[in-house]
Amino acid sequence: MTAIPQHIAIIMDGNGRWAKKRLLPRVAGHHAGVEAARQVVKNCAKRNIKVLSLFAFSSENWRRPAQEVGYLMELFLDGLEREVSLMHENNIQLRFIGDRSRLSERLIKKIIEVEALTKSNAGMVLLIAVDYGGQWDIYQAVRQLAKAVEAGELSSDVITTEIVASRLAFSDLPNPDLFIRTSGEYRISNFMLWQLAYAELYFTQTLWPDFDEQELDQALADYAARERRFGARVEN
Ligand code: IPE
Ligand code: IPE
Ligand code: MG
Repeated sequence: MTAIPQHIAIIMDGNGRWAKKRLLPRVAGHHAGVEAARQVVKNCAKRNIKVLSLFAFSSENWRRPAQEVGYLMELFLDGLEREVSLMHENNIQLRFIGDRSRLSERLIKKIIEVEALTKSNAGMVLLIAVDYGGQWDIYQAVRQLAKAVEAGELSSDVITTEIVASRLAFSDLPNPDLFIRTSGEYRISNFMLWQLAYAELYFTQTLWPDFDEQELDQALADYAARERRFGARVEN
């Protein structure tokens, strides 16, 4: 039997370079990237993946020119407006992780709306990371715990790794089994630092807009051939 990951987490990288190669503006790359995201959602749902996480905008992406940031935010809003009914029909549950405080009111409203609409869907969970950073995630968990201690609800003596994990952004879902990054960059760029502890890492040179069904199957085949040990020893 082939091992199928329960949770796939993807850093969708290379939109800018894809556009540059075609002498197009960067935004055209982001536009093409949205189409690739639609395809990967469809193809993961088809393969019965339980959770798909997509890194759409990092805590550090605010450092980009305001015009590009603005375009990306419009793309998210537009994409949500256009895609949500189809996702809902396909029983997909949409959830967002990240620091919402810096997003526009319109986007926050839309996020709340689509989360509520798809809340009871029992199919694939699509986790979209917007203004997300692994360091932010750990920081907000620590802060929650500090507040609980301060309020006398929790004693610092009983804080375990499980308790820390329970305050992270998606503690009710399994951690990623397979991490994919496109565009030939070999780094995690502050994605799920805690949750990726035992993920199998897969890197491809393919730029995100070119990541198609075949590419996904290649990553899945690679994953199926891995031996996961989680620090233990395989008997022989
Ligand atoms: C990834 O593509 C999309 C986001 C970070 C939002 P990039 O925009 O990082 O593309 P490159 O890395 O410059 O090619
Ligand atoms: C990571 O890509 C973030 C997203 C894909 C959303 P970046 O392109 O921002 O990462 P760096 O700057 O190359 O590390
Ligand atoms: Mg990039």
